[in-house]
Amino acid sequence: MVIAAQQGEPGQDGARTFPEGFLWGSATASYQIEGAAAEDGRTPSIWDTYARTPGRVRNGDTGDVATDHYHRWREDVALMAELGLGAYRFSLAWPRIQPTGRGPAVQKGLDFYRRLVDDLLAKGIRPVATLYHWDLPQESEDAGGWPERVTAERFAEYAALAADALGDRVTTWTTLNEPWCSAFLGYGSGVHAPGRTDPVAALRAAHHLNLAHGMAVEALRDRLPSAGQCSVTLNIHQVRALTGAPGDADAVRRIDALANRVFTGPMLRGEYPEDLLKDTAGLTDWAFVRDGDLRRIHQPLDFLGVNYYTPTLVSEAGGAGSHTSDGHGDSAHSPWPAAERVAFHQPPGDTTAMGWAVDPTGLYDLLRRLADDFPRLPLVVTENGAAFDDYAGPDGRVEDPGRIAYLRGHLAAVHRAIADGADVRGYFLWSLLDNFEWAHGYSKRFGTVYVDYPTGTRTPKASARWYAEVARSGVLPA
Ligand code: NOJ
Repeated sequence: MVIAAQQGEPGQDGARTFPEGFLWGSATASYQIEGAAAEDGRTPSIWDTYARTPGRVRNGDTGDVATDHYHRWREDVALMAELGLGAYRFSLAWPRIQPTGRGPAVQKGLDFYRRLVDDLLAKGIRPVATLYHWDLPQESEDAGGWPERVTAERFAEYAALAADALGDRVTTWTTLNEPWCSAFLGYGSGVHAPGRTDPVAALRAAHHLNLAHGMAVEALRDRLPSAGQCSVTLNIHQVRALTGAPGDADAVRRIDALANRVFTGPMLRGEYPEDLLKDTAGLTDWAFVRDGDLRRIHQPLDFLGVNYYTPTLVSEAGGAGSHTSDGHGDSAHSPWPAAERVAFHQPPGDTTAMGWAVDPTGLYDLLRRLADDFPRLPLVVTENGAAFDDYAGPDGRVEDPGRIAYLRGHLAAVHRAIADGADVRGYFLWSLLDNFEWAHGYSKRFGTVYVDYPTGTRTPKASARWYAEVARSGVLPA
């Protein structure tokens, strides 16, 4: 029998009980799972274009079919119910709802999400909808993409359409997923769609993503019932210094500004950090930030979504050009504008199939820091998980002890952060299903459910069963 523990402390048997009402979920994203790329009026997104460009995605993989969730969604919701999930975080495909990135909504696109949400609700699973998980309509990119203000304005219109159609049944909304990736991998290093490599465009994109967030929250608030919740999901980097040298501390400060405070500053404090403006002054004077923008970006939020996988280790570089891999893919172009004197290092410890170091203390430190910096803002871990080279054994079973160990360690870190005062309300594992891992294509498996791509067959891995028990009981076993 599990001995009831004081909230936050392991019980006598070492089990950790999470607070009452803690939300247990899994996450996915439209382009990574849906497929049906040209169905029911959907037009190409920047990821369709990027994936079809030779050399961009491993093995030439595309999201044309992906896990075929667009056709198998009913089976997937049934799986979620079987796996005891209390919540499901998914994203809406902008080009499915508003194919050209402007104008009226396409009914069939909305109907898909309505049916999905209704089935989730019927099974007692709370839908958590993200408006933007990287699939910008290609036509919006052709009109300038995120570096241009018009894209933020169009995004607010899309948010309004989505809320009008789904706001009566989806109460929890997230505007953007990991805008750092959209801005700095999409327009800076080019390892994500649309694949541009222009540091100024990346900074402009960051601002217009911030603006898009603020304008979308306004649109959501106007339409959602009073219980509606608005949030954003950031991949806040837990940046650590290689040594205690002052130069390394400054490298941490610089990367913290470019990765984290470029978003948390305007969104949560209503200002861009002075040091960020100074560091990037050689590239831009930030004249694209107009009067009134910061007020619109700085919206009250119901919670902050945090995605965490691995810490970031930096030092002062010996000289210009010594930039090394930052764990987000190697590229001739840096995703870090004006950070030529920062070197990135592989953090110590075991790694996942992505080559990312496994370090749950990073998640603990991150949650504690956010709780200190923004004491009244509830937190939700909107992604955490690991890729491993999973395969089905002769008996058809998929054993993934590495993933269970990863999840166990990180859930213990969440539990400890709560015990130490962080207001963490939920945890979403990435991912429900194996899926299209962006530039890595299908070569990396993050799912707790194995997908046999040739047939589409789903097989819950051992980790899915393990997590189901944790979600059902709210207890992390010793
Ligand atoms: C963050 C992204 O939101 C998600 O799309 C991606 O698959 C995971 N990280 C793993 O890289």
